[in-house]
Amino acid sequence: MSDISNLPNSKKIVLKTRPDGDPKVSDFDMIEEIAKAPDDGEVLVEVQALEIGAWIRTTLNETAFHGSTPISGTIPALGNGKVIISKSDKFKEGDIVTGPLMAQSYTTMAADFFTKVPNPEIDPFTQIGILGVTTGLTAYFGIYEVGQVKKNEIVLVSGAAGGVGSLVCQLAKLKGAKVIGIAGGKEKCDVLKNEIGVDASIDYKNQNVDEQIKLHAPEGIDIFFDNVGGEILDIALDNIRDRARVIICGAISQYSHHDSVDGPSLYLRLAEKYARMEGFTVMHFEERYEEASKELLDLYNKGKLKVPFHIEDGIDNFPLALQKLFTGGNTGKLMVKV
Ligand SMILES: NC(=O)c1ccc[n+]([C@@H]2O[C@H](COP(=O)([O-])OP(=O)(O)OC[C@H]3O[C@@H](n4cnc5c(N)ncnc54)[C@H](OP(=O)(O)O)[C@@H]3O)[C@@H](O)[C@H]2O)c1
Repeated sequence: MSDISNLPNSKKIVLKTRPDGDPKVSDFDMIEEIAKAPDDGEVLVEVQALEIGAWIRTTLNETAFHGSTPISGTIPALGNGKVIISKSDKFKEGDIVTGPLMAQSYTTMAADFFTKVPNPEIDPFTQIGILGVTTGLTAYFGIYEVGQVKKNEIVLVSGAAGGVGSLVCQLAKLKGAKVIGIAGGKEKCDVLKNEIGVDASIDYKNQNVDEQIKLHAPEGIDIFFDNVGGEILDIALDNIRDRARVIICGAISQYSHHDSVDGPSLYLRLAEKYARMEGFTVMHFEERYEEASKELLDLYNKGKLKVPFHIEDGIDNFPLALQKLFTGGNTGKLMVKV
């Protein structure tokens, strides 16, 4: 399609009200309009799939690390799509690209925002699930570079049945670590044991997390990979052993009250155990995305990594998908099929 006199109708999800607590469907509106014709240097992309990430919630506040979404502004989102009109030398029509497409069915943006997907034969969900910046790459750099996981170490992972968590568990296992995954509910814990291959799981909604850690790791844990924060972080700190690494990947339990985060009260365990706590964002490793993607793809092609995902159908369901992320409605990476 390169006929700008026949542009498609596009649906976009905009912010109606700033959420009070976790995001709800009623905080968003959907607007339908004709897609914008690309100017020189721009492309019009048909969005195929969008990832639902906890970072989106932080942009709904008035001030935000990833940039604030104004009222009536389109909700930011990362994903994959197909170029249908190109006014840039960088892409031709039909190219599959990845980047900040936003929560909409068609996107017109400067071509420089996007990267060509190197393996377009892989479906967009597997792409995002394994090679996505906020999934595979986050898990890879978090557990391998920040965590420096080693054989026989004991790794505890919170949010273990989610997009990042399920890959962290598998990447740690591949290095020969013993992995304990924390997730909400028996069903997720069964997935962790039977499909992801963890050594033990802890159902934080129905079990005493501290008792369970002590049961599975009586000598303590070497690495805590934290996706959740809050109370679980404190319990983990109380169970670290000498030279442990506590990796702050995220704190999904805290994003809905960013102004009054529940911090760890047991941080002195770090001194007592000569341990370190280190945070990171995947963007700190941007220059190494290509190398990590190759390694992840190789592991996936060899059948060594499973990529669980949960798909919501249609851009109309973007708000519902975001709501689900904060109520544990997903196992594996949560995405929207546009
Ligand atoms: N550092 C980085 O660069 C980077 C990049 C991407 C993502 N992240 C972070 O990684 C974490 C995981 O992201 P993801 O996209 O893979 O999401 P995800 O883990 O697939 O989904 C979120 C899960 O978090 C759990 N959860 C939600 N609210 C919770 C609460 N109040 N207490 C405990 N658990 C809660 C739910 O699982 P249960 O049913 O088990 O509760 C939910 O399924 C997030 O904190 C995110 O911000 C960081």
